[in-house]
Amino acid sequence: MAIERTLSIIKPDAVAKNVIGQIESRFENAGLKIAEMQLKQLSKEEAEGFYAEHKERPFFADLVSFMISGPVVVQVLEGENAILANRDLMGATNPKEAAAGTIRADFAESIDANAVHGSDSAASAAREIAYFFGK
Ligand code: TYD
Ligand code: MG
Repeated sequence: MAIERTLSIIKPDAVAKNVIGQIESRFENAGLKIAEMQLKQLSKEEAEGFYAEHKERPFFADLVSFMISGPVVVQVLEGENAILANRDLMGATNPKEAAAGTIRADFAESIDANAVHGSDSAASAAREIAYFFGK
């Protein structure tokens, strides 16, 4: 099994709901370690650059507005198969379709305010970690 690193964000809705600790516990209980962590307010430019792959999608402007609506926790999770392990803990993008017991099923309201981000591949993880934390 490979030790991987993945980029995780606790989004503004979850920070506003005061569930940072409950979400971090999910990661800790699954054996993922927090290797880097920062509570920060993203700028519009930072949010646009982070989600650049979605630039042409109809939801892009709303997604950027949401991501800058309040502080977020930007962090690096490290552990065995961390990229997929984090995606499994998060659940489906749309919380209505997320499996019971996942973070999005338990803490998210809607597809556009869905509590957490997680890198979706090794290439995304490398880009996203470098984007916020450098090499
Ligand atoms: P995406 O990368 O498809 O989902 P995930 O976060 O599970 O990797 O989309 C990025 C974010 O864009 C998603 O978390 C919420 C937002 N989004 C919408 O607001 N509407 C949509 O229809 C989709 C697909 C995503
Ligand atoms: Mg994605």
